[in-house]
Amino acid sequence: MYENHVTTAGQTRILQPTKQAIGEATWALASGELVAFPTETVYGVGADARNGIAVAKIFEAKGRPTFNPLIAHVISLDEAKKAGSFDARAEKLGAAFWPGPLTLVVPCIGDCPVHELARAGLPTVALRVPAHPVARQLLDEFMAPIVAPSANISGRVSPTSAEHVAEDLNGRVGIILDGGRTQVGLESTVIACLPGEPVRLLRPGGILRSNIEKVLGEALAEATDAVQAPGMLAQHYAPNAHVRLDAGEIAEGEAWLGFGQAAPLGGRGIAHLNLSPSGDLEEAAANLFAYLRELDALKPRTIAVASIPHEGLGEAINDRLRRAATR
Ligand code: TXA
Ligand code: MG
Repeated sequence: MYENHVTTAGQTRILQPTKQAIGEATWALASGELVAFPTETVYGVGADARNGIAVAKIFEAKGRPTFNPLIAHVISLDEAKKAGSFDARAEKLGAAFWPGPLTLVVPCIGDCPVHELARAGLPTVALRVPAHPVARQLLDEFMAPIVAPSANISGRVSPTSAEHVAEDLNGRVGIILDGGRTQVGLESTVIACLPGEPVRLLRPGGILRSNIEKVLGEALAEATDAVQAPGMLAQHYAPNAHVRLDAGEIAEGEAWLGFGQAAPLGGRGIAHLNLSPSGDLEEAAANLFAYLRELDALKPRTIAVASIPHEGLGEAINDRLRRAATR
């Protein structure tokens, strides 16, 4: 798709993740620049976690309204322990689900390498060991934590391809490493393991609640005012179009986002996409953000979304849809 494996768009270069490109990206990070890269969940826009100026560039590039705390990506559980304090529960979860789409919020250790700005001044740090080979190669070469929120303009749908990243951040990042479409399609599950507190689910995501509970041997508690993910704005992931949930019918000027076999009543919509005709929640998660972007680009009045079951990955899918529908 890219001639000579490179396209130039503004000052942003989209690079195939060759060894040379990973080397360039590592240099860029070390020089305090931003690099967008694929993870198995969504694309992230990364900076050297130790460098406050570089971290500030992330907030600027995303247009984040406030300094929400960021996830620090590390290569292994051992590296994670150099930033955060892991109790027996956190250790169990890290051992079971890393590398993978799980983020653990734990207390910072004394000389935590993750800059205070990336933690929004909190005494805790969010850590994740990603599974995507490109993310891992980058971490392996950079040899330090990389903070990375999803590589979209704040409030917009998270990117699941390099093209999505370029749509939002063209000219705002130096390099986008192109790893194709991401596999999971939803962000990581965020779990807090803090002393004197039950283990709390702060954000549903790529790892199922039921799988986490099985490993822990106890039910997850909910987020509270005191322990929550500050970035979880009610309105988030917002397309420009109005989003209507649990729709059974479609009207003039509307776009349909289906799931399973049920067809919309009415049938006068301007476009139809199906997250998973066979009703597979994993497939639906992988398609969700790309299809929301695709339908939104047609400028429909409303995106009408079919009902999606709440079990399994449906918990995270419905969470994102609820935010997309809030305005
Ligand atoms: O899958 C993902 O998690 C992607 C990829 C790029 O890794 N990243 C991502 O980052 O979704 P972001 O910044 O969009 O979401 C990070 C979430 C936010 O809800 C934030 O509030 C929460 O993690 N978080 C980060 N640090 C926290 C902390 N110390 N305490 C509580 N929540 C925290
Ligand atoms: Mg995000």
